[in-house]
Amino acid sequence: MKLLDLYAKMKGDLNQIEQELVRSVTDDHVLLGEASLHLLKAGGKRIRPIIVLLAGKFGDYRLEVMKRVAVPLELIHMASLVHDDVIDDAETRRGQLTVKSKWDNRIAMYTGDFIHGKALTIAAELPNPQIHQILSNALVQMCVGEMEQIRDFFNTEQSIRNYLLRIRRKTALLIAISCQLGAVAANTDRKTANRLYRYGYNVGMAFQIRDDLLDLYGTEKQIGKPPGSDMRQGNITLPVLLALKDAETREPLLNEISSIRESGGKRDTSRAIEMIRKSDGGEQADQLANRYIKKALHALEGLPNITAKKNLMDIAHFVGKRNY
Ligand code: IPE
Ligand code: IPE
Ligand code: MG
Ligand code: MG
Repeated sequence: MKLLDLYAKMKGDLNQIEQELVRSVTDDHVLLGEASLHLLKAGGKRIRPIIVLLAGKFGDYRLEVMKRVAVPLELIHMASLVHDDVIDDAETRRGQLTVKSKWDNRIAMYTGDFIHGKALTIAAELPNPQIHQILSNALVQMCVGEMEQIRDFFNTEQSIRNYLLRIRRKTALLIAISCQLGAVAANTDRKTANRLYRYGYNVGMAFQIRDDLLDLYGTEKQIGKPPGSDMRQGNITLPVLLALKDAETREPLLNEISSIRESGGKRDTSRAIEMIRKSDGGEQADQLANRYIKKALHALEGLPNITAKKNLMDIAHFVGKRNY
């Protein structure tokens, strides 16, 4: 099943999540509400809430409870995007102006914090302390991941392990806990929650590797922002690290990357992208993403054969091939 068909099937519950998202960021403070709604209305795949809902199907699924996990997770994701666009100095997201470019950096920082606060307000309605511990730990790890990204800007000597640790923190963990918290909120047994966590973690790793590939291979229409953005800002991603291992590509690519750095990210990245495309860095990164997808599917194996399991398998396949 395609992702669009899954949306159609889950339409009733997803509409309720959507309404709750709008309600949660609508605020008396006009500017904070407006800036948050701007990002919310620009779209997005809503992968995290969908995953929460599907994980909940393995237990006692009550939409009222699931909502209180699904909405905060999407809000935390949104808040991280608003902040990420400040760090990355990004002009567009989801095909629209970023909050930082429509308004400014200061407004984006507070809008991110505001959305964050709204996430916590909703999550606070859940009595289970374990949920709050899992959430706050993930938030801390995401900050560390983003800080590591800043530290490693233009670091062409970093190891692949370093890259993997960073994306684990900045992306995979939030997707992993979307699964886990969906399960915990629906009171599944521990084993089920752990299996779902493992699924989410592996899907999350593949998700960021595909995101990094899309930045080099995608079109502006597909990714909602100009390609090559990672390169311009100095974010050295997996396909680049792999291309740098190629003896023929290494020297010219290093030169190109340092010219981009010296230009303050203004230099056209198409030559660097061309070099990466000619190497087999992309192919190898793709293979690693597929290995994570295999692991994700493997994690689902012991779970009961309910429709949600099939849906999670479809999501894993979508992530492995995603081009938006
Ligand atoms: C973008 O996430 C940031 C990453 C973690 C790669 P998504 O690709 O889920 O963004 P939206 O919500 O669909 O816009
Ligand atoms: C993911 O990283 C951002 C967060 C986890 C907050 P990216 O910087 O690759 O995300 P995009 O490409 O801007 O969406
Ligand atoms: Mg970014
Ligand atoms: Mg990206």
